[in-house]
Amino acid sequence: MANTVYILNGPNLNLLGTREPEIYGSTTLADIEAMCQKHAEKNGLSLSFHQSNDEGALVELIQEARSKGSAIIINAGAYTHTSVAILDAILALEIPVIEVHLSNLFKREAFRHHSYITPAAQGLICGLGAQGYVMALDYLSQS
Ligand code: DQA
Repeated sequence: MANTVYILNGPNLNLLGTREPEIYGSTTLADIEAMCQKHAEKNGLSLSFHQSNDEGALVELIQEARSKGSAIIINAGAYTHTSVAILDAILALEIPVIEVHLSNLFKREAFRHHSYITPAAQGLICGLGAQGYVMALDYLSQS
C-alpha cells in the first residue's frame, strides 16, 4: 500500500488507439496499463490504474489516494483545462503528483495551454506519448 502509485486517466482516454490517432497514436489505454505494470513491477511499485469519464469519480480516486497511495500520475484529459474540483482535490494531498499528457499541449489550440493541475503538480510531462507515463514512474521510483 505504501508504494502504490495511482495512475488516473480522464475523459475519452478509454478511446485511445482509435481516437484521433494522428494526435494520440495507436497505443490503447490497455497497452499503456500493461507497459506501466511491467515497469512498476521492475521497480518495486504497485499500481492502481483507472480511467473515468466522470469528474466526480476522478475526485473520489484522488481522495482515496490520500490514504492509500504514495503518488499520483494523472492525465485528466479535457478536465485539465476546466476542473477547479480536481485542482482542489490535488491541493489537499501530501503525496507527489505528476501530470502527464500524450500530446504536446503547447503545440495545440490556445485553450489547451492552460492547465489547472500544473501549479499543484511536482512536474509535467507532455508530448512524449505513452512513454511519458513510464518516465513519470521512473522518476517516482528514484525519488
Ligand atoms: C490530453 C490533452 C487534452 O487537451 C485532451 O483534452 C485530452 C488528452 C493528452 O493526453 O494529450 O483528452 O490530456
